[in-house]
Amino acid sequence: MEKQLNVSAIKDGTVIDHIPTKALFKVVQILKLDEFNNMVTFGNNLDSKAMGTKAIIKIANRYFEDEEVNKIALVAPNAKLNTIRNYEVVEKRVVQIPEQVNGIVRCFNPKCITNAENVSTKFQIINEKPIEMKCYYCEKITYENEIKIK
Ligand code: CTP
Ligand code: ZN
Repeated sequence: MEKQLNVSAIKDGTVIDHIPTKALFKVVQILKLDEFNNMVTFGNNLDSKAMGTKAIIKIANRYFEDEEVNKIALVAPNAKLNTIRNYEVVEKRVVQIPEQVNGIVRCFNPKCITNAENVSTKFQIINEKPIEMKCYYCEKITYENEIKIK
């Protein structure tokens, strides 16, 4: 059977694959894709052998530095980045959870200063699987299933 793409192939740019379906819009938020003028296409609830269902995002004519894209590991730890040039996949990268996370995630502690005042959050990752992040300000731990994007 001929292989068919659910979301059209792109000529040049980045394909972010293997995103958990629940994380699709969090990834959009983290990467601020709503502010891009590039062509962005995405699909959700696509069949995946490894994950059951998955989401995928394709960004035309845009490439990402590790630092910029590693932030999505907080919500899409198995995401794969494919660099596309002239329709070919020329590079595949996995995302890595950074050691420190600035902004992006809310501190789970309602009494934390970052929830009361206009102070950007700052966390140290103390465990990767599942994610446990320690707030620099209140020292409380935010766990993976509590992660809310700011
Ligand atoms: N892709 C695309 N446009 C292209 C080439 C590839 O949108 N010109 C997408 C494919 O649809 C796929 C991803 O980029 O979602 C990776 O492509 P490929 O490596 O060919 O697919 P797989 O082998 O299935 O990838 P994986 O490493 O995830 O198994
Ligand atoms: Zn805090």
